[in-house]
Amino acid sequence: MTSAPAVERKGKSEAVASVEEIRAEFPALERVHAGAPVAYFDGPGGTQVPRRVADAMVDYLFHHNANTHWLYPTSEETDALILRARETLADFLNAAPEEIAFGQNMTTLTFHLARGLGRDWGPGDEIVVTELDHHANVAPWRALARERGVQVRTVRANAETGQIDWDDLERAVGPKTRLLAMGAASNALGTISDVARAANLVHAHGGLMFVDAVHYAPHALVDVKALGCDLLACSAYKFYGPHVGVLYGRADLLAQLDVPKLDPAPDTTPERLETGTQNHEGIVGAGAAVDFLASLAETPGLSRVLSNSVLAP
Ligand SMILES: Cc1ncc(COP(=O)(O)O)c(C=O)c1O
Repeated sequence: MTSAPAVERKGKSEAVASVEEIRAEFPALERVHAGAPVAYFDGPGGTQVPRRVADAMVDYLFHHNANTHWLYPTSEETDALILRARETLADFLNAAPEEIAFGQNMTTLTFHLARGLGRDWGPGDEIVVTELDHHANVAPWRALARERGVQVRTVRANAETGQIDWDDLERAVGPKTRLLAMGAASNALGTISDVARAANLVHAHGGLMFVDAVHYAPHALVDVKALGCDLLACSAYKFYGPHVGVLYGRADLLAQLDVPKLDPAPDTTPERLETGTQNHEGIVGAGAAVDFLASLAETPGLSRVLSNSVLAP
């Protein structure tokens, strides 16, 4: 349904697309400012979009645009395209399609998730956040202190090393901890944190592990199983997609989460987490962004993504 990729999959002898081929994918790089070609230095604020991602979104809007779950062709095509994007994002994160919910962005998804989780929590329960984290992985959890009387503990970061203070983390996590919220990579410093170690720690006390992978996903292949997390959020606009958020949650957890939702909306996982009408074209674009990444290199990690890609043989 989308136009043919400009960057073909490479054979084993030529495993990675060339810089020129990759640059040719991005119309934004054709921009000229004051007579000079531009370079974009706003990477932490998001990435530029390759032509094929925009093409997939335009194709959706021009030829398949409809609401979901009706018995007419464009609605059925919309359902199929959203499912396809869910499968692709599941592959990207090493999860199952029913574990992938879409939303406006990481911040909004995390507030929504926190509200659902917090309905069961109250005084005596604790949430652990860190100084190394983006405010989007702190404010939603702090809101539960005001709304539910939960206590929030903040783990220190070491200012000299830019690392989490692990001694402080080990002191903060205990039997009252319901959830540890931690970033896989810091957008401010670039520090990559050992999320798997943190997940082991909080699981040993019966708590949940939430990972903010917004800054991590553009730089490393996310594997929710290897990270050992229960919940994880990222944003497609940070990895060549449109402005859409993606939430992973363990299937059993999402199925029982007490999220605010409309009665007539589907109560099946993961749609029960997706409030109202979604950004269908953005979801299609998020899937196309993963396909774009998968098209660039034939690496062992990416073969997982390629196996579900439209580019797969
Ligand atoms: C590490 C990190 N977490 C969370 C966010 C918030 O993501 P979103 O814009 O999708 O709400 C950002 C945005 O820059 C970020 O860098």
